[in-house]
Amino acid sequence: MHHTPATAPAAAPPAATAPVTVEDALRSRRSTRAFLPTPVPRSTVERLLGLAARSASNSNCQPWRVHVVTGAAKHALTAALLRAHADDDGRGRDYDYQPGQDGWPEPFRSRRRRFGESLYRDTLGIRADDIGARLCHHRRNYDFFGAPVGIVLTTSRHPQQSALVDAGLFLQALMLAARGDGLDTCPEASLIDFSPVLRRHLLIPDDQVIVCGLALGYADPAHRLNLLRTPREPVGAFATFHGDETE
Ligand SMILES: Cc1cc2nc3c(=O)[nH]c(=O)nc-3n(C[C@H](O)[C@H](O)[C@H](O)COP(=O)(O)O)c2cc1C
Repeated sequence: MHHTPATAPAAAPPAATAPVTVEDALRSRRSTRAFLPTPVPRSTVERLLGLAARSASNSNCQPWRVHVVTGAAKHALTAALLRAHADDDGRGRDYDYQPGQDGWPEPFRSRRRRFGESLYRDTLGIRADDIGARLCHHRRNYDFFGAPVGIVLTTSRHPQQSALVDAGLFLQALMLAARGDGLDTCPEASLIDFSPVLRRHLLIPDDQVIVCGLALGYADPAHRLNLLRTPREPVGAFATFHGDETE
């Protein structure tokens, strides 16, 4: 059984633990899945978006767009997504971010299984066969894990592949910029399972591909979901150096 610790609403942002170096931002960014209700001022969100827009893009096309939802607008979007999830209605994705089981060759299949085990079994204490508890956690995606700010990232449909790369750069820049303000994030592909719902609700035009969602806010340091740490392969496992050894 998964219990969510009650969290008292905090009036002011937690004491700033803002990293000051790019290295700190990279090392401290992690997918945060429980947030304090502490609001994030609109001016802060605008500044972070402006920083993310410094990202490189194909010939400076800047194909990204964002929809920012807070307050009543966020509640309404969450309600629409939860309804669609409950009714299994309005499913559909603009691009194939999550292929089915057969779409994952090794070593990705094993890495995905290990990640699922660390999230559900080790962090939440949910057994593999406890579908109800797994669904209960999954539904929290649609509330942006309690974050006060929900972002839906879209990008140009043409040329789709380069626009998706550029949107990925924007997403990473936004997550790192957030660290600079002591804020945390969780990218959310789960939202795009219901892209027609997002499109209708946020009036997203057809020339835009819905890339993913992003939760933005102050991490709840007391929540066990935020204890999850993910490993990385060593550089030697993915980098090939060509040329002379210089040192
Ligand atoms: C585009 C994208 C979509 C993601 N979608 C989800 C999601 O829907 N729900 C979730 O809990 N985590 C999601 N994640 C988070 C990944 O599980 C996470 O990045 C990965 O396990 C590595 O952990 P870290 O971000 O804490 O370093 C997503 C990550 C990316 C890059």
